[in-house]
Amino acid sequence: MLDVSEIKTIEHDVVVIGAGGAGLRAAIEASSRGLNTGIVCKSLLGKAHTVMAEGGMAAALGNVDSRDNWKVHFRDTIRGSKFLASWRMAELHAKNAPARVRELEAWGAVFDRTKDGRINQRNFGGHRYPRLAHVGDRTGLELIRTLQDHGIHQGIQVHMECKVLNLLTDADGAISGVLCLWRETGRFMLIRCKAVIMATGGGGKCWKITSNSWEYTGDGAAIAYDVGAELMDLEFTQFHPTGMVWPPSVRGTLVTEGVRGEGGILLNSEGERFMFRYIPERFASETADTIEEADAWLTDDKNNRRPPELLTRDVVARAILAEVKAGRGSPHGGAFLDIANRRDPAFIKKKLPSMYHQFKELAEVDITKQAMEVGPTLHYFMGGIRVDADTQETAVPGLFACGECAAGLHGANRLGGNSLSDLLVFGHLAGSGAADYIEGRRGDKAAEFNPEVVAKHVRAATSILNRESGPNPYLVHDKLQLAMQENAGIVRTGEQLKEAIAQLTALQPEVDQVKADGASQYNAGWHEALDLSSMMITSLAVAKAALMREESRGAHTRLDFEGERAEWGNANVVTKKGSDGEMIVQREERPAPPPELEAIARATIEELESGTVG
Ligand code: FUM
Repeated sequence: MLDVSEIKTIEHDVVVIGAGGAGLRAAIEASSRGLNTGIVCKSLLGKAHTVMAEGGMAAALGNVDSRDNWKVHFRDTIRGSKFLASWRMAELHAKNAPARVRELEAWGAVFDRTKDGRINQRNFGGHRYPRLAHVGDRTGLELIRTLQDHGIHQGIQVHMECKVLNLLTDADGAISGVLCLWRETGRFMLIRCKAVIMATGGGGKCWKITSNSWEYTGDGAAIAYDVGAELMDLEFTQFHPTGMVWPPSVRGTLVTEGVRGEGGILLNSEGERFMFRYIPERFASETADTIEEADAWLTDDKNNRRPPELLTRDVVARAILAEVKAGRGSPHGGAFLDIANRRDPAFIKKKLPSMYHQFKELAEVDITKQAMEVGPTLHYFMGGIRVDADTQETAVPGLFACGECAAGLHGANRLGGNSLSDLLVFGHLAGSGAADYIEGRRGDKAAEFNPEVVAKHVRAATSILNRESGPNPYLVHDKLQLAMQENAGIVRTGEQLKEAIAQLTALQPEVDQVKADGASQYNAGWHEALDLSSMMITSLAVAKAALMREESRGAHTRLDFEGERAEWGNANVVTKKGSDGEMIVQREERPAPPPELEAIARATIEELESGTVG
């Protein structure tokens, strides 16, 4: 007989799930309000996808080009999102990012400097001006290091290698606790708490080729969905144009957009700089259409139109795919990214030290002498848990979400560099949202949860070990990845998405009956099996949302519904769990944008600069 009272139980006011940039920033905020705050992370502190945002964090500091300001950043974000970003989140992000970056500097982040000693900023795709505050090509790492240091000294408790299985709610449906599992010992732990902040990142591991590492299995979205949170915009999955394509062991590993931001260009197997053939009408007036014009930008980025390599990620990823399909790909099915012929070795080693070492060590390529081979890799979820813009609260009282696992800021396509500033801005707001909730609506109400529900969850986890036989979790994961890689890729059709849904549905009984051999201590197979249920919910939700959106917008390209469709321009796809456990996917109209914000987003750069709009 399972006795839940024997499970070790601890207490926090706030539990933050995930220890990347968003989780750390949220925890710092909650703890600065005097709340007992704990972070639970299934990996080691500091090992987060945040470090894969290498090239920088976008903030309109105006250090390199004084014409930059929050309005231009807001306009770029909305346009990059194909007008689907949450207007309020894009506004909060653009206005607050500079303060969050300066705060990070005050906490010890050592940014690269301009000649006159200010935080340096570099160009990135879709950003009008050099806007990315950076630390070489290791910006995410510096962000994590700084927040870790600050948070630990502030007294935040960290529970590492501890996997969250389920959220627990009280009789009113408000968050009251968390059920976790220690990876090392296989023991369960309960945490009583008043609020939870989800900051678990995305679900890249649902695809075969991804920049994400093993932790990114869509846990946040799936666990929140299970207790009633809504998911939104999941059809928008970002394929970063430049992942490594060779050797196979590192396929998908990120090659920072910073390479193109520092002057790198894309070439096909015929040596052609092919991006000039893929400039969309929307960006034509701001994009160079000759090599001479694009190259003039290298030496004078103030007055020239930007090179087409710095178009938004959706455009560049599709262009590489088109070149490969046309038979002009690189030997291993990608494109060539050349900086060796554009910048001298000392510059490359100074600005892109990680890329230099990464290619040297993993691919035996010296990027100061040779071109890199690159191709699209699943990098980021624009969609995720639906939240209120100002507080980051979800539909479940006491449950908050921020960073990649939350939806809203990026709409149909995220601009590179907007993720690190997203983590800081919305991590901060989630921490204060949770603190306000506890001080106000939650009050002193005790955290109660139902022991029978806990017992049911524990049995669901241990049954994977205890059944006599069943499918191998690694092979099931492989099938799931194949279903998504082949049918929910950069370009999709309705037929493919139906095939993905059929394959995933057929896989569900295997997920339900999966068997991990061995005991509960440090059993990697058991953890793989436990992650499968998150990946299944996430993959199905992505495929169903992608099937519903019958248009092509940003990162979601439907070959059977080309181009943006007016009837979808103001609609989100929202996914939630029905009362019988079924997945409900529905289209929802968005509220009209505030007129003053819409005017800024639709203004020309000249109108913004002259002050005639905004
Ligand atoms: O290319 C990069 O450095 C990635 C940045 C990002 O995803 O924001």
